[in-house]
Amino acid sequence: MDKTFLMVKPDGVQRQIIGDVVNRFERKGLQLVAAKLMMVSVELAEKHYGEHKGKPFYEDLLKFITSGPVFAMVWQGENVVEITRKLIGKTNPMDAEPGTIRGDYCLYVSKNIIHGSDSPESAKREIALFFQENEIVEYEKLI
Ligand code: CMP
Repeated sequence: MDKTFLMVKPDGVQRQIIGDVVNRFERKGLQLVAAKLMMVSVELAEKHYGEHKGKPFYEDLLKFITSGPVFAMVWQGENVVEITRKLIGKTNPMDAEPGTIRGDYCLYVSKNIIHGSDSPESAKREIALFFQENEIVEYEKLI
């Protein structure tokens, strides 16, 4: 079954909207298979955001993502990467449609509440960065 990595960033944790974010994916019918509140080390941040190294916002991005707890999750379901990207909305909240997480909750690209893997390949890499295999719970979705 397809999996993706989603992370409520420090701004989303501080604003106490973890519950709403989780609720949006649950009510869509996706399956939560791993979750934890954690601090991101500089080393982990550099690995996770390696593709952005050298971009003007890279240093601020590292500072921000390591500034406070994040809520890291793995979600499962058919086409879960594409579906969660739709529910999250465009990277820049200015372009994100109302009804999406970023469209509803934020104003600035540097504080856009949530990260979601952008492809099945990124999902695999990001899940392995944040979770041990034994932290991912496989269980049957009955309804
Ligand atoms: P995310 O989906 O976590 O992936 C990379 C992040 O870089 C992105 O969300 C934004 O929060 C952040 N970022 C900060 N500034 C910019 C920018 N100018 N353009 C794109 N992404 C940015």
